[in-house]
Amino acid sequence: MMNILHVVGARPNFMKAAPVVAALARVPGATQVLVHTGQHYDANMSEVFFRQLGLPEPDINLGVGSGSHAEQTARVMLALEPVLTAHRPDLLMVYGDINSTVAAALVAAKLGIPVAHVEAGLRSFDRTMPEELNRLVTDQLADLLFTPSADGDANLAREGIPPARIHLVGNVMIDTLVRLLPQAAPPAGLALASPYALVTLHRPSNVDDAAALRALIAALISLSRELQIVFPIHPRTRQRLASWQIDLLAGDRFLLLDPAGYLEFLALQRDALVVITDSGGIQEETTCLGVPCLTMRENTERPVTVTVGTNTLIGQDTERLREEVQAILSGSAKAGAIPPLWDGHAAERIAAIVEGLP
Ligand code: UD1
Repeated sequence: MMNILHVVGARPNFMKAAPVVAALARVPGATQVLVHTGQHYDANMSEVFFRQLGLPEPDINLGVGSGSHAEQTARVMLALEPVLTAHRPDLLMVYGDINSTVAAALVAAKLGIPVAHVEAGLRSFDRTMPEELNRLVTDQLADLLFTPSADGDANLAREGIPPARIHLVGNVMIDTLVRLLPQAAPPAGLALASPYALVTLHRPSNVDDAAALRALIAALISLSRELQIVFPIHPRTRQRLASWQIDLLAGDRFLLLDPAGYLEFLALQRDALVVITDSGGIQEETTCLGVPCLTMRENTERPVTVTVGTNTLIGQDTERLREEVQAILSGSAKAGAIPPLWDGHAAERIAAIVEGLP
């Protein structure tokens, strides 16, 4: 009999947890509790994913909402401690690198509850990124570290994590992609042109600086003369654009959307000529789909998407953005391959390891 408690909090957690919860449901004697911290709470940032991914309704929602990093992390810790004390799970599973991940890992570790980290070992080596701090701390606290690629194992070894704790299992996010790609369909009623570029931006380094955001938007508006721009907009980015009164000149050539559901967004990626993003997960999904990805960041914690996949890092260089899009428009897109173990079976490997725990 093994009782596993999963903690999820924000959009990129949901597609990682779904296959793990499903795989563990097939382990005899395993019981599961799903806790949603409420870090993301809008229906289109949370609920739609539970429905489309087939995740069970959370057993508990901590309702922490938004706030500064310290507030959000502290609220998760305060609300989760009594839950863990009451449930006393045999294993806590956390995902990715968001504030909810590190907060949950810290509470569990101090209560003596073993912690498993799914998507361990990723490093951007950029400590100005909040996620990098979350990754470093979570991995130090974890008892079981499930890595998506071999670079993760090397990073953990360098940080002194005992090899016996590290398991290279592959990419759980790709499990979800492989399973749901046949059901993917673009948002109904959207006037998509061919070709189009799909754009997402939400990293503080791009959207919390008015001059940087202004320059990026100006570059996108100018690109919209060459190809249609499709931009599902993150709530954080929408707020910044509104408060700095940056106009997107939205129209037929520049489609501005609310955040899309998983199946809709997957189809938008699949059918795009190019994806322009600062997301982590999208670098992986485009690699898997074979769609060129231009990442508006100086670094990535997912180097395999650059060395093996279709990803190119371009920083905030808008001139480079223009050149790369021109090259892709003229038919010379970067060809990529799919990294080892990104095969749709990562969660099964995790479940087999959990099943074999003493
Ligand atoms: C968080 C994660 C980031 C992940 C991203 C995906 C951390 C440190 N960051 O960033 O790694 O890539 O999620 O989206 O955990 N908001 C809403 N509705 C919501 C959620 C947020 O309007 O449902 C607004 C709030 O004003 C909030 C802002 O978006 O202040 C930012 O949300 P927050 O959870 O703090 O960080 P994200 O930028 O979403």
